[in-house]
Amino acid sequence: MTSTPKTLGEFIIENQSSFKYTSGELSRLINSIRLAAKVVNHEVNKAGLVDIIGNAGDTNIQGEDQQKLDVYANNKFIQTLTKRNIVCGIASEEEDDFISINSQDTNNQNKYVVLIDPLDGSSNIDVNVSVGTIFSIYRRVTPVGTPVTIEDFLQKGSDQVAAGYVVYGTSTMLVYTTGHGVNGFTLNPAIGTFYLSHPNMTFPENGNIYSVNEGNYIHFPQGVKNYIKYCQEEEGDRPYTSRYIGSLVSDFHRNMIKGGIYFYPQTSKDKNGKLRLLYECNPMAFIAEQANGKASDGKNRIMDIKPTELHERVPFFCGSKNMVEKAETFM
Ligand code: AHG
Ligand code: MN
Ligand code: MN
Repeated sequence: MTSTPKTLGEFIIENQSSFKYTSGELSRLINSIRLAAKVVNHEVNKAGLVDIIGNAGDTNIQGEDQQKLDVYANNKFIQTLTKRNIVCGIASEEEDDFISINSQDTNNQNKYVVLIDPLDGSSNIDVNVSVGTIFSIYRRVTPVGTPVTIEDFLQKGSDQVAAGYVVYGTSTMLVYTTGHGVNGFTLNPAIGTFYLSHPNMTFPENGNIYSVNEGNYIHFPQGVKNYIKYCQEEEGDRPYTSRYIGSLVSDFHRNMIKGGIYFYPQTSKDKNGKLRLLYECNPMAFIAEQANGKASDGKNRIMDIKPTELHERVPFFCGSKNMVEKAETFM
């Protein structure tokens, strides 16, 4: 007989003592993200019914305005974290500026800020392909009890306290790290509970998948073109197989399980590529490193970059360690 699987709630409680600061605040924060993820999951699952229940901008049968899913997800995460009085600040890919949370009850005693990509891979919603949510958590650097400032958000990835993602796929999973390895939890939608299904997730050191939008090939620097040709050459375990969903979360998740590299390089049009350092690259880099993988901008470790603005972009190479190191030799 198999033993009862551990729930995410149980896992959070059991691991609370391994955090550096054990006030329980980080546990409550992860619990809030779990809650918001379930609500967003419910909405994402209904996306295919949009022709029946109404489009963004329409009014639904209850008289509520229908929202685009990325706006909906953004509002849900912000509402949950604000109302439950868990953090002192939030920055979101969907917001121009960061949000400072002034709680009357606690006199703003919260220590953590959250950075979030509420819906990643949004171009895949309308076609029933996996999307995700990415989050990143830091301790504020300015004094507790004062309003947060931009400095609280522009921290290096190496200062992250926790990071994770939710993938709304064939199953919905929440995968996160607090710096003690990476664990994955699968939602049982019948009862709304996440179970520990993937303990201690790790990237295989080598893999045979490369994930890149090759439609941009003509605009890539020569080093990237050469690396793509290397992936396609017949030699040893090559050619690799090409897999690109166009949702970073889903591409990363598959590569972590099977072994592979994801890259979104600079192009002649966008000198820093497309992905955002704070909402996408840093959290995925933290998870990758915690799972024995690697994340780089082609030359340097992603988590060593000192951000200068909230919506900064960066070239991104991430996945199985040996594959990322090989790609770097081409840059
Ligand atoms: P978002 O939906 O949050 O804007 O992010 C989309 C990102 C990432 O998830 C994905 O890997 C990449 O953009 C796809 O970009 P291309 O369509 O240019 O390949
Ligand atoms: Mn995204
Ligand atoms: Mn997004």
